Amino acid sequence: MSVIIVQYPLIIVNLKTYEESMGGNAIEFAKIAERVYEKTGISIAISPQLVDLGAVADSSETLVFSQHVDPVTYGKFTGHVLPESIAEAGAVGTLLNHSEKQIPIETIKASIKRAREADLEVVVCVETVEVARKVAALGPDAIAIEPPELIGSGISVSKAQPDIVRGAVGAVKGVNPKVKVLCGAGITNGDDASAALDLGAEGILVASGVVKAKDPYKALLELARAMQR
Ligand code: G3P
Repeated sequence: MSVIIVQYPLIIVNLKTYEESMGGNAIEFAKIAERVYEKTGISIAISPQLVDLGAVADSSETLVFSQHVDPVTYGKFTGHVLPESIAEAGAVGTLLNHSEKQIPIETIKASIKRAREADLEVVVCVETVEVARKVAALGPDAIAIEPPELIGSGISVSKAQPDIVRGAVGAVKGVNPKVKVLCGAGITNGDDASAALDLGAEGILVASGVVKAKDPYKALLELARAMQR
């Protein structure tokens, strides 16, 4: 169970369903994140597959986020992801509406409420500034803007589409200044992370830039160092 708390700037490493980051490897990524946190003091969360979540949370002090939860309660909801189960397994937060796991706006609203009831930090992913504005009104802890065409591309949103990051920051803060804004898609190096903060983002969401890196420790350390300000 993590004793580290969620702080911004925040790096979320989404392990997705990559072969390199499942099972025992998910635990290795959590340990890498722990080492980088100890070196830099930058808050890092790992988001493993659900079946790996408990083992990852038990094996390190790294923050663990679920990749998804459903807006269900205890009871007759076979196959759903109960927020309380995630928290019980050691997660401190959850992603919602990732580009690869999208849900309708009404479900986002209900899921934020349920995740809150389980004391989870809620980061809602969005693809556009317009949706960022709508979701900000629902009051999640953070919104992560990720243009889908750049996901996994190695071309960073903060460099290729700075206007969408700036636009999301403006739109979200205009609705609710308490909601943090993260950005993701194609982030691979320190310059990308630094550019994200320059645009007003308060953290990054990254996957392949770390999971597929030749040296994931080195890659994550570079991202975290670029965010030490
Ligand atoms: O959740 C993070 C993600 O969608 C970005 O993926 O591979 O472009 O860092 P990637």
